[in-house]
Amino acid sequence: MSCSRKLYVIFPAAGSGSRMHSDKNKLLMEVDGIAVIDRTLSAFKKFADEKDIDLYCVLVVSPGKIAEWEEYLDGKDYSSIICAITEGGDTRTKSVGNGVAVLEDYSPDDNDAVFIHDAARCLIDTDSISRCFDAICNDDICVCVSGVKTKNTIKMVKADTDESPLVESTPDRNLLYEVQTPQCFKYGVLTECYFEASAEGYEATDDTALAEHYGYDVRIVEGSYANIKITTPEDIAIAEALLKNMH
Ligand code: C5P
Repeated sequence: MSCSRKLYVIFPAAGSGSRMHSDKNKLLMEVDGIAVIDRTLSAFKKFADEKDIDLYCVLVVSPGKIAEWEEYLDGKDYSSIICAITEGGDTRTKSVGNGVAVLEDYSPDDNDAVFIHDAARCLIDTDSISRCFDAICNDDICVCVSGVKTKNTIKMVKADTDESPLVESTPDRNLLYEVQTPQCFKYGVLTECYFEASAEGYEATDDTALAEHYGYDVRIVEGSYANIKITTPEDIAIAEALLKNMH
């Protein structure tokens, strides 16, 4: 195992949240009485406390919103784990890139573990975090992502522009995983991927796709079906139902 007992986590939270159709920031919406962001950050603090890990978290928020977030987070039980709040960009890749740039101030070692975790995945559990941490500490793994086998059959279509898209193929379901976050890197590989992506203007909807693009092996680590991303209004109700099952 080549990691120290340090974990750096970048939380991209600079999305517009437009699919929630609400004036309120979706991260401040409550799931069973507790705000989404509070649940997410508390889960990581619990993991760090249980495993005696030094946690350094960077929250990436919408431009112009840093002061608002500082005020919101002030005095929270978990506020000690947040080392920086920075502004995001107009894409997820740019937002995470800004978070990666901030990490430099904390001088991580190349082998230190860095996770990227969607702030909106508030049902993340400590076992899933722990499996990812153990995997990325393995000498042979530089990049991994939490994922679950897909339960549905997935169709690839020729183009998504048509009203009734034409199916191109049906990939073998046994080889398909839905990936989630945490997306996990050794720091040295993460900085290389984001440096190259920024120079090339390469964008992806998930962070480990950058590693694939630059030729790194990416492993999938067993996640949890409950680790949903709060995106649309029904996700709040789904999360509340899942929580009842988790207690
Ligand atoms: O758009 P998507 O749902 O994939 O976003 C996943 C995460 O990335 C969310 O937590 C969102 O706030 C964040 N994001 C960001 N900056 C953007 C777009 C998305 O930090 N420009």
